[in-house]
Amino acid sequence: MSFKTIEFIEGKVRLIDQTRLPQHKEYIDYDNYKSLIVGIKDMIVRGAPAIGVTGAYAAVFAIKGLSSDKDAFINEFDKRCIEIIDARPTAVNLEWGVKRIQYLAHESLKEGKSFEELSTILYKEAADILEEDIALCKKIGQGALSFIPDKCTILTHCNAGALATAGYGTALGVIRAAVEAGKEVKVFADETRPYNQGSRLTTWELMEDNIDVTLITDNMAGHFMKKGMIDLVVVGADRIAANGDAANKIGTYSVAVLAKENNIPFYVAAPYSTIDKNIKDGEGIPIEERPIVEITHSCGQRVTPEGVKVLNPAFDATPNKYIRAIFTEKGAIEAPYIENLWR
Ligand code: MRU
Repeated sequence: MSFKTIEFIEGKVRLIDQTRLPQHKEYIDYDNYKSLIVGIKDMIVRGAPAIGVTGAYAAVFAIKGLSSDKDAFINEFDKRCIEIIDARPTAVNLEWGVKRIQYLAHESLKEGKSFEELSTILYKEAADILEEDIALCKKIGQGALSFIPDKCTILTHCNAGALATAGYGTALGVIRAAVEAGKEVKVFADETRPYNQGSRLTTWELMEDNIDVTLITDNMAGHFMKKGMIDLVVVGADRIAANGDAANKIGTYSVAVLAKENNIPFYVAAPYSTIDKNIKDGEGIPIEERPIVEITHSCGQRVTPEGVKVLNPAFDATPNKYIRAIFTEKGAIEAPYIENLWR
């Protein structure tokens, strides 16, 4: 891979700046939790598993400068963890990554570990989370192989690739695994308005890997499905409810409905850390509202009338009835999800 999404180098977290791609390949180094929160909010790093890993490192950085009194330490540390989790509400991986560090910090202090030992333990845990994420993505890809025809065109929405994870990707990981297995795969990438993760990021990372990709705008998907030019759809997810309803980038629901209408299988690829047992169905998934400037402006220029009313939900939830299977590190899970996800 010609880039690293997240790296830990000499005490700093290095993120590829996804707001500058594809024109500029630049990296930003972070050494404190506050600036990592800004990095997550400003989408320097984005994509559910990638913000999970970043959140884990932010939680490790959050122990810096805390009181040496254990109770005061825990009290302030827990507040900082909430601040990190609040950076973006939809992707449950952020909470998952932070809580994994938080739990280990609490346990280590209970066991009487020194602050120095704690720091070493937590940095190792964050590094493990990063490495595990890459391994999980590869497993997801392997488990999906039998669902991918030897020659096919796959539509994807948003970016669920190496840029959205610690590397390899979930939906794009399925595509990478298929290509590595010798399948002849072509990709159609939805532009993914309004933030254009498809046109800016998915096209770039697939082209870097020499994978055949064609960019279309979101409103073209139905047209190409009807013409028989798309064989299947694979997308990622930000949070999957206990019943299999899956929240992903805004517009995913429309793609799923179009796929059903055109008899095209629609798959979701995600690690188990994206599944939220505590949320019954898609209606309960918190949906982030993004700044309206993402819609009112293009390349810094206003393109809408001043004062126009705008809504900008960043995600939507696709009901499980549209999802043919969920590709996970435990293999492909099919309906009834409420039973099969929890076996
Ligand atoms: O707003 P973003 O760019 O963070 O949204 C990302 C997505 O919706 C991805 O499809 C999802 O996080 C899965 S990433 C493997």
